[in-house]
Amino acid sequence: MPRILVTGGAGYIGSHTVHLLLRRGYDVVVVDNLCRGHAHNVPPERLRRLSLQDTDALTGLLRDPPCAAVIHFAAYIAVGESMEKPELYFANNVGGSLSLVSAMLAAGVDKLVFSSTAAVYGMPERVPVTEEAPFAPVSPYGESKVMVEKMLGWLDQCRGLRSVSLRYFNACGADPEAGLGEEHDPETHLVPLLLRAVRTGEPVTIFGDDYDTPDGTCIRDYIHVSDLAEAHAIALESLLAGAPSAAYNAGTGQGHSVLEVVRAVEEVTGRTVPRRIGPRRPGDAPVLVADPSRLRAALGWRPGYTDLRDIVATAWEFECRRAACRPVE
Ligand SMILES: NC(=O)c1ccc[n+]([C@@H]2O[C@H](COP(=O)([O-])OP(=O)(O)OC[C@H]3O[C@@H](n4cnc5c(N)ncnc54)[C@H](O)[C@@H]3O)[C@@H](O)[C@H]2O)c1
Repeated sequence: MPRILVTGGAGYIGSHTVHLLLRRGYDVVVVDNLCRGHAHNVPPERLRRLSLQDTDALTGLLRDPPCAAVIHFAAYIAVGESMEKPELYFANNVGGSLSLVSAMLAAGVDKLVFSSTAAVYGMPERVPVTEEAPFAPVSPYGESKVMVEKMLGWLDQCRGLRSVSLRYFNACGADPEAGLGEEHDPETHLVPLLLRAVRTGEPVTIFGDDYDTPDGTCIRDYIHVSDLAEAHAIALESLLAGAPSAAYNAGTGQGHSVLEVVRAVEEVTGRTVPRRIGPRRPGDAPVLVADPSRLRAALGWRPGYTDLRDIVATAWEFECRRAACRPVE
């Protein structure tokens, strides 16, 4: 089986994908500097503690033994932090990606799967959002992903480096059997925040209940992390089989409001979510739901998880196991 280099494989989505690739028999090497990830997410013999910025070391890793392709997760991911310190996001997400593709060109590796995001669309005028919607990011985080997608377009045209950009909507859920789940620090994502509120009794803030949606809270498209991992495996296979560069939305096509997610958490845990309503957050679109038909038609991908409660149940199982060994302060 081909050798695949995975950047950011010690993080949330990367670790689930590494786990899937190893199960499928790929030879995987993970590059992660652990600035935001966890060594316990990756088999130790697979992990190289290295920064994306180290172009020479990356070139060496890609060359010997030779890698067939790269899956690139490593980035900073917090929209709010990117508004406070945009320079960090351009340096790490854009500069890091540039270093990586430079290493790939030097080593003769010409296939890349890239973690993009629905944030490239900003506040889309039409939902569900298709890939034809214009780039209109409203944060340096979203802009950093647009910049990399554009860079990858030119690298294909000028240097023959083929890539698939997957624009994820809201990744959530876990693979508790594999010991993997969401452990961002600080956590900014809704499902783990709601579960932690249930467990600790500390109220969670819901940002705005006066949006133009049926219950006033924002609507998002929640995709299980294992389904996302599967989308990466399929995208990788397509590149290995010679498919051209492409960008795909990775979402389920179903929208759920924040209050619907709260209800799902209450059903799964059997407890009330302590919560308070706060002001809207600048840059939050009222509704962000994917049209995933291009990914379905081109690569045959379908989400395995279609019921939000099943997704939440996996995250709850992970949260309970994690809490048993690492208490939240
Ligand atoms: N989580 C989501 O809902 C979501 C949605 C859309 C897009 N994405 C994208 O998916 C990717 C993975 O997200 P995640 O939630 O798994 O994040 P994460 O923070 O859990 O994982 C990112 C990993 O990259 C590593 N990393 C960061 N900078 C690095 C560098 N310079 N060198 C080496 N390693 C570095 C971190 O240590 C971490 O392990 C990111 O590119 C993110 O922008 C995530």
